Parts: sequence; C-alpha cells; structure tokens
Amino acid sequence: MTHDWHEWHEAYDHEGSPLARRLAVVQQCIATALDTASPGPIRFVSMCAGEGRDLLGVLEHHPRRADVRGRLVELDPALAATARARAPAGIEVQCADAGATSSYRGAVPADLVLVCGVFGNITDVDMLSMIDLLPTLCAPNATVIWTRHRRPPDATPGVRRRFAQSGFAEVSFHAPESTMYAVGVHRLTSRPHPFRSDVRLFDFVGFRALDDVCSECGFTYAVGRAEITPWLRSDAHAFVEKLGRFDDVSVRTRPEPDVWSPLEYACHVRDVLRIQTERILLAQEEVEPVFVPMGRDERVVKDRYNEQDPAQVIAEFLSLADVLASLLDGLDVAGWERKGVYNYPEPALRTVEWIAIHTTHELLHHRGDLR
Ligand SMILES: C[S@@+](CC[C@H](N)C(=O)[O-])C[C@H]1O[C@@H](n2cnc3c(N)ncnc32)[C@H](O)[C@@H]1O
Repeated sequence: MTHDWHEWHEAYDHEGSPLARRLAVVQQCIATALDTASPGPIRFVSMCAGEGRDLLGVLEHHPRRADVRGRLVELDPALAATARARAPAGIEVQCADAGATSSYRGAVPADLVLVCGVFGNITDVDMLSMIDLLPTLCAPNATVIWTRHRRPPDATPGVRRRFAQSGFAEVSFHAPESTMYAVGVHRLTSRPHPFRSDVRLFDFVGFRALDDVCSECGFTYAVGRAEITPWLRSDAHAFVEKLGRFDDVSVRTRPEPDVWSPLEYACHVRDVLRIQTERILLAQEEVEPVFVPMGRDERVVKDRYNEQDPAQVIAEFLSLADVLASLLDGLDVAGWERKGVYNYPEPALRTVEWIAIHTTHELLHHRGDLR
C-alpha cells in the first residue's frame, strides 16, 4: 500500500510483502525468458519501469547479461535516476511517458517486453486495447511479461483471452493462492506488426482513480483477504523504519500546534493495534458486540505520548502488529466474517475483515503523517 511511487518501491525491501513476493515471481519469469532466448543480442523494453528492480536485479547474476540491450521507460525523474545508477552498460533509462509509442523509438522491436505494475493503473479499456498494440513493439517470438492484481472483479481471465486474440500463446500464468497478484508470460506466435511512433498505448491514471481509495493517502479498501496480514506486517515495519529516521528532538516536535508529533502518531497507531486485537477477540466471543471508542485525542494527553521512549514504542508497535497478524492468520472463514458495531467513520456493523483492512489503512495513513 502506498502514498506515492517512491514509498511504493520501499515495500520491495520488506521480506514477505506481497510486492516482494511478486518481484520474486517476475524475476523468475525474466530469468527463464533469458535462459531460453536465442544466442546473440536480447533487446528489451520495460514500461513504467520504476527503479527497474525486476530486470536489473536479474541482470546482476544472469549468464546472458552481456547480451541484454534495451530501454527502461519511467516518468518519475528520481526513480529513473535510481534505475540509471544501477543499470549496466547497454541499458538506457529514459525519463518519458510510457503511454506514447514514441518513447520506444530506437529500442524496438524487442525480444522481451515488460509490462509490470501497469495494468492496475490504467483503465480496463486501455489495458485491452494496448494488448492489441503490443505486437508493434515486438520482435518475432518476443516474450511479454505482465502483472495485474486479481481483486474482484478479477480482470486477468479477460487479459489472457485478449493476449490469445492478439496473436500470443501463453507460456505461464502465476497466481499464487495466498496472494492477490498475477504474473503472466506470453509469447508472440503471430507476425509482429509494424512499429509506429505516433500511437497512444494508454493513459496512466493510477490505481487511486480506479479503486475506492482514501483521498488523502491513496489506501484502497479493495484488499483481498489473503493480502491483509502480509501488508499489515510490511506496513508496520515501514512505519517504524520511517519513525526511526527522526532524532530525539524532531520525533517529539509537532510540525504545527494542532498536528501530532511523529512520536504521538506512533503511540496512537500502537494503541490502535492493541485495541483492534482486543475488538477482534471480542467479536469472536460475543455476538455483534458494540466496541468502546478508543478516545484517541484523550490518550495523547492522558498517556503522555510525547514523553514516551521511542525505542520502547517501536518494540511494542512491532510486537503488537505481530500479535494482530498472527491472530488474523489463525482465523477460519467464519472468524473473518464475525461482526461488531464500529463507531468510525459512522456507527456501523463491520466484519472482522473490514476491521483488519481498516487497521492497515491506519498504518499507511499515519505513516504519511510522520513529518
Ligand atoms: C506500479 S509502479 C511499477 C514500477 C515497476 N514496473 C515495478 O513493477 O516495480 C508504476 C510506475 O509507473 C510510473 N509511471 C506513472 N506514469 C507513467 C507514465 N506515463 N510513463 C512512464 N512511467 C509512469 C510511476 O512513476 C511508477 O514508477
């Protein structure tokens, strides 16, 4: 879950996060495509490449790395710079709009086309029409590696059908059971189409415009049950990592008189983790209990949040996140569906699943408040 594309990339560093697990699958697919490529140069393009962790990570070790040539296309200058710093000779990083075919002039036809982290950020109409256009970027027998989340309604069956209709054969499709992502690999079996440099492939609108999201932090409630605890664990680590960047003075400093300090936010979220665990346990025992409001503002003063020891807060925070995640991991279907009356944003009967998703929202949202 994320605020911006920089923080989005940080989830790659948290072992076990859904994004880290997706990366491992994508890298395996890239390695296989390189293993099976014909001798000689292997040309690639990567759309919306971000830091290019997928391909650049594989190239660090792959025996065919010296044969790989191509272009990563990324709009964000800082992310492009990170990719450029890591890219070996023969690989260029272009800071450009990946939705315009002109950005691929000189780099296509490509033997490998990476479309990772794109389909979930464009409309379904653009997603399907750009699949039709992919043969214009491809060399004969090119491999396309793509990703897409599988949140309901799962669009991946339609994606796979469209690849088949556009002249591709499916090489592999990975949708691990306990995840919400999918990684597909398709090979062009029909003839490539001529390249044109004046075609619009897609408009990158971002998942925030497509899903039900928090307008402030970009959190989407459309999280699959299987992804809740991996996000909870990885967002808890990301939160304390960010908190750890403040020194002892700035961690207690309020940016404005009525805005909490980073330590106050951390204490708040720590207490949220404890209280949500208690509420979920209560909902397992009682029929539709009415949860007592936590008194968020009163606690800041009563519990002297700003005088607490940051190291101890971090330890408690991580331990409580782990307790909550383990509790959720142990629930059966009926456990996730039990309910209680939750008073925020308005009093409503909420499932345990909603409470768990809402807790991951708290982690992301308040991470953005640490400043
Ligand atoms: C979901 S991330 C995927 C990054 C990378 N492909 C990966 O899977 O790790 C989407 C990336 O697209 C970039 N982006 C957004 N709009 C773009 C555009 N029009 N052209 C190129 N990149 C764009 C963002 O900056 C972000 O780095």
